[in-house]
Amino acid sequence: MKLLLTGGTGFIGSHTAVVLSQAGHELVLLDNFSNSKQAVLGRLETILGHALPFVQADVRDTAKVTQALQTHGIQAVVHFAGLKAVGESVAQPLNYFANNLQGTLSLLQAMQAAQVHQLVFSSSATVYGEPQYLPLDEQHPTSATNPYGRTKLHIEEMLHDLSASNPAWRIACLRYFNPVGAHDSGLIGEDPNGIPNNLMPFVVQVAAGIRPALQVFGNDYDTPDGTGVRDYIHVMDLAQGHLAALHFLNAQTGWHAINLGTGQGYSVLEMVKAFEAASGKPVAFNIVPRRPGDVASCYAKVDKAQALLNWQASRGLPQMCEDAWRAQQRNMPSTT
Ligand code: NAD
Ligand code: UD1
Repeated sequence: MKLLLTGGTGFIGSHTAVVLSQAGHELVLLDNFSNSKQAVLGRLETILGHALPFVQADVRDTAKVTQALQTHGIQAVVHFAGLKAVGESVAQPLNYFANNLQGTLSLLQAMQAAQVHQLVFSSSATVYGEPQYLPLDEQHPTSATNPYGRTKLHIEEMLHDLSASNPAWRIACLRYFNPVGAHDSGLIGEDPNGIPNNLMPFVVQVAAGIRPALQVFGNDYDTPDGTGVRDYIHVMDLAQGHLAALHFLNAQTGWHAINLGTGQGYSVLEMVKAFEAASGKPVAFNIVPRRPGDVASCYAKVDKAQALLNWQASRGLPQMCEDAWRAQQRNMPSTT
């Protein structure tokens, strides 16, 4: 198929580009480089052995996106583009509404104009809010606890309404748990701007000597070792979930919400230990108070993805850590 990947040079978009291209799809990447670098395109070319067509644009530029869809004969879109930092969304909600809500609305208008009705959307486990039970299945009530989460929830609802309006639409909302790791070449990976908000990139930078110590946000949760438990999923497994979702949508219409996780939770201290083993480096840490808004545990029920997509994650925690470390060693953070 001919596919447009918005946010295609970002962390998850770039890894998904590798998987989709290697599976034989023809890709066009679109990004405004607000949180990624042009050098990713060269790295993708090195991995794939050929360049990928690229459009530098903001998804809010409806005319340019429509033109890209029409010029390239696009049949389906994978929509990664958006802002994703929870704390920043609390401080700058309008920026999040503009990028995520307005951006998605613009994309959908462009898709409608170009008669493209197949969409895979990057949603998040954040739509489950405070877990009422575990593991989280797709029937769990949804809610938002911050502006970032609210954009994901509203977008899911917009997509649901859209699919009800016209049976031509085929939409999968993939609810990602905690993506980590990197392509095994180490050429692409997670490359956050500034101080990482998320656990894994912070741990990587402590092991690399860039930051002195990890702050562990609380060790008094109701979990086996008192630290927070999450469902970390290797980004290449996640990428393969998109391939499976596109295949699924070829035979389905309507709106589908599907968890992409492993079903297995690990604590912060288990992550630290696994990373020390993979990197051979010590990861110093201090226990500090809980981070506001954090929950004790969050992990997925993965049966729906197995049943509908015939997909499940296969890479374990050691590989997540080894691949993240390799990407760091190949100097990911200084990519320019
Ligand atoms: P990322 O920031 O690495 O990638 C997003 C890409 O979108 C970046 O390259 C950025 O430049 C681009 N972008 C942002 N706004 C844009 C706009 N208006 N127009 C064009 N391009 C724009 O983030 P990621 O981790 O790859 O996340 C991809 C998607 O997955 C996001 O929608 C995110 O909310 C969602 N998600 C991520 C996680 C995670 O932990 N990484 C978890 C759940 C959901
Ligand atoms: C966070 C977001 C979530 C988003 C996800 C992926 C919050 C409250 N939630 O999830 O909406 O979808 O990122 O972008 O921000 N931790 C530390 N020290 C650190 C960093 C994290 O101890 O420096 C702990 C956290 O308390 C948590 C675990 O590590 O227990 C994972 O944290 P993180 O990587 O930020 O992901 P989430 O909080 O699950």
